[in-house]
Amino acid sequence: MKHDVNIHTDKILILDFGAQYTQLIARRVREIGVYCEVWAWDHDPAEIARFAPRGIILSGGPESTIEDAAPAAPQEAFEAGVPLLGICYGMQTMAMQLGGTVEGGHAREFGHASVVPTISSRLLEGLADESGRLDVWMSHGDRVTAAPPGYDVVASTDDVPIAAIANEAERRYGVQFHPEVTHTKRGTEILRRFVVDVCGCATLWTPGRIIDDAVARVRKEVGRDKVLLGLSGGVDSSVVAALLEKAIGAQLTCVFVDTGLLRWHEGDQVMATMAEHMGVQVIRVDAADRFYAALEGVADPEAKRKIIGRTFIEVFDEEAHKLEGVKWLAQGTIYPDVIESAGAKTGKAHVIKSHHNVGGLPDEMNLKLVEPLRELFKDEVRRIGVELGLPREMVYRHPFPGPGLGVRILGEVRREYAEILQKADHIFIEELRRAGWYDKVSQAFAVFLPVKSVGVVGDGRAYEWVIAIRAVETIDFMTAHWSHLPYELLGKVSGRIINEIPDVSRVVYDVSGKPPATIEWE
Ligand code: XMP
Repeated sequence: MKHDVNIHTDKILILDFGAQYTQLIARRVREIGVYCEVWAWDHDPAEIARFAPRGIILSGGPESTIEDAAPAAPQEAFEAGVPLLGICYGMQTMAMQLGGTVEGGHAREFGHASVVPTISSRLLEGLADESGRLDVWMSHGDRVTAAPPGYDVVASTDDVPIAAIANEAERRYGVQFHPEVTHTKRGTEILRRFVVDVCGCATLWTPGRIIDDAVARVRKEVGRDKVLLGLSGGVDSSVVAALLEKAIGAQLTCVFVDTGLLRWHEGDQVMATMAEHMGVQVIRVDAADRFYAALEGVADPEAKRKIIGRTFIEVFDEEAHKLEGVKWLAQGTIYPDVIESAGAKTGKAHVIKSHHNVGGLPDEMNLKLVEPLRELFKDEVRRIGVELGLPREMVYRHPFPGPGLGVRILGEVRREYAEILQKADHIFIEELRRAGWYDKVSQAFAVFLPVKSVGVVGDGRAYEWVIAIRAVETIDFMTAHWSHLPYELLGKVSGRIINEIPDVSRVVYDVSGKPPATIEWE
């Protein structure tokens, strides 16, 4: 494949002041087709010149610019000679630092607002609707009360006289609202104006080119060495496998540990998709007995998680040691993990989720890490997965917890329970797909309750297990609503589970939100 474009040349730097929406800015810029990185606002400023962005975006943030020691943009951002866009807090700090004023003490404004562009600006020109307004999303307490010298006020709302500022000569802009959220109607176009028209970035960041670039980099990095990858059946490790297969073919060996706590027939599906369809070398380890044995008599959720994690590492390491001449361990680390672990030096410590790392790194094997998805957001990982030929169904699957059914069988885990649960879960998911609800919910699954309940079957009396089903809708999995699935669908799922699985006599639907309940039952 020809490799003459460098997809990283035209890039944007996003300085993060801690807003909930910062990663969304980055995802929008990438969707427009431009590479960008998110750095904490207090990242070593000397690196800005080395990074050489074509433009800089200052994100929103939870602080107030009028407090002492409030986070500020580094001087180097203003001296880089490239266009700047300040969003919300980013606009306020920009205004403050350049000689304008910001005031607090107003009622917090949150929600839809209608912005009227007052003076024509490159950023907003032609984007207002017929009535001359732009529908936007606001979320702020402080506001800019005087634009810095040399800046025009280019948009206002009824409540906020200074909703956007511009200095066309210096190509610097500030918006009080959030163009990155979908509630801002033409938000992506505003960002495209900045990134493409003002900064002049070419839109080179496309799935096909991302793959070519990753393939070339992996080949250069690992050369002729052998690479090991732990395949979990999840999206990230599957995409890494497909990518490495394309890059280095037979130099890649995957180890797939079947824990006995996976979804219905998942082990066979992983083998069919990855080994047979994609041609990846996969060693399947059937370790179900070992996991069930390790979990015998253990009811505590955290104890179960630890046992499952430890057993997984043991099995994976044993397999890894059987392989000869492996130099690299591939991992499905993605960009949000990288941003989280970098974090702001002054901010709260970010917790890195340990379950992002499949298996443990066998220390004494002295493996080097190769992480070809390190630059990518989850939606980009999915898009390149489809482009690489992975089935959509696999790539757009709901998330599945690392400990698998281990935390969906309440209390002690037994093979018999796991088999009942797999069947029930499969029926639920199949019916969700048939009814067109699978993609409308964020996560759906069945839970095995180790209690017996009375029922009638024909003329007899049944005394069998209870299955709970749960479906939630969420953006970030930190909070979630239970899904309002149609009664007919719930009825069908319940009927099928009870009829097709003789060990179940009752099905209940979980109507708890998060908070206070968590998504998983354990
Ligand atoms: P909770 O239950 O905390 O779940 O509301 C939030 C999201 O995290 C997943 N989850 C886990 N994922 N290991 C994982 O890899 C775990 O131990 C674990 N516990 C919960 C859960 O499925 C949901 O998507």
